[in-house]
Amino acid sequence: MSIPLPLFPLIPSASQSLPRPSTETRLIDTFGRIHNNLRVSVTDRCNLRCIYCMPEEVTFKPKSELLTFEEIVAFVKVAVELGINKIRLTGGEPLLRRGITDLVRMICEIPKIEDLSLTTNGILLKPLARELYQAGLRRLNVSLDTLDPERFFWLSRRQGLEQVLEGLAEAKDVGFSPIKVNAVALKNFSEADIVPLARYCRDHDFELRFIEYMPIGAEPWEREKVLLAAEIQAILEQEFGPLTPAQGNDPRNPSFDFVYPEGGQVGFISSVSRPFCHSCNRLRLTAEGKLRNCLFSLEETDVRLWLRPQLAAEPLRQAILQTVWEKWEGHEINSAHFLKPERTMHAIGG
Ligand code: 5AD
Ligand code: SF4
Repeated sequence: MSIPLPLFPLIPSASQSLPRPSTETRLIDTFGRIHNNLRVSVTDRCNLRCIYCMPEEVTFKPKSELLTFEEIVAFVKVAVELGINKIRLTGGEPLLRRGITDLVRMICEIPKIEDLSLTTNGILLKPLARELYQAGLRRLNVSLDTLDPERFFWLSRRQGLEQVLEGLAEAKDVGFSPIKVNAVALKNFSEADIVPLARYCRDHDFELRFIEYMPIGAEPWEREKVLLAAEIQAILEQEFGPLTPAQGNDPRNPSFDFVYPEGGQVGFISSVSRPFCHSCNRLRLTAEGKLRNCLFSLEETDVRLWLRPQLAAEPLRQAILQTVWEKWEGHEINSAHFLKPERTMHAIGG
């Protein structure tokens, strides 16, 4: 007997059938997830070309299409009234955006923002760390996958390891805390980097998190290319002894942290082996003003429309509420009908 194939999509998003309550003023979706976390990409440009993130040849968005700092701040102020209180600045490489410290200052001046952080590849960190700190930034995530210059070049198709290490040292000197180091791990490549990175981060008091490779870059993605968190954990345990889950792991946090026997922590962002969509509280604004309710969204809302030539606060508010409301249950990386978004990571923001 043949089984009739279900029609695509297999799991219709609940938002297709549920109207949004007009009285709701929180950023809530149909699965009850409340959003307080906004990632703002300030540029799609990057000074590296990490193979898991972007192609070698890219056409970047013309500068005139990017949201101005005033437009970003106007957006953030409306979002804050809807419950956003955590902001992360990202790229591409956010330190490539001219005047980025001015934006940091402008965002720090907005009341009700409890947490501002920035994700960088660290190349420009050394010259900018002090200025960023003085502008009010305290938290940094630095992407670093290897401590070996040749392997760095292979992964990022550019030189720059030394600059990243100098940037990290300067950031620590200046007083940034915490400094998190994010390492994307690829199977049959990153194994050799796990222990050196762990030692380096422990020695320098950087919070290391390993990230499973996700299908959001330019290269064809296969599950076999993912170095799973459990595999990384096994490598670490062989060297350092058993890891125990850290106290107070927050389920809304993508990272699950462990403690080494001798103290110190290491985290895993296991998007593939342990998706955390059920507790996702994140929303993303691209550099040219497209609002995305998921890293893997296939649809996005143009909010620049409500920011340019001038702010239209009420339609913008409605657009943000509706974009969150329409959020699907989660990415389906582990299913056969997963569709990779057209945008690659550098144009969304990590
Ligand atoms: N899978 C996992 N993480 C990725 N990043 C970029 N592309 C991918 C991918 N395909 C990470 C970077 C950085 C952040 C901006 O996103 O390493 O930490
Ligand atoms: Fe640039 Fe970050 Fe993408 Fe690497 S991962 S190419 S550093 S945006």
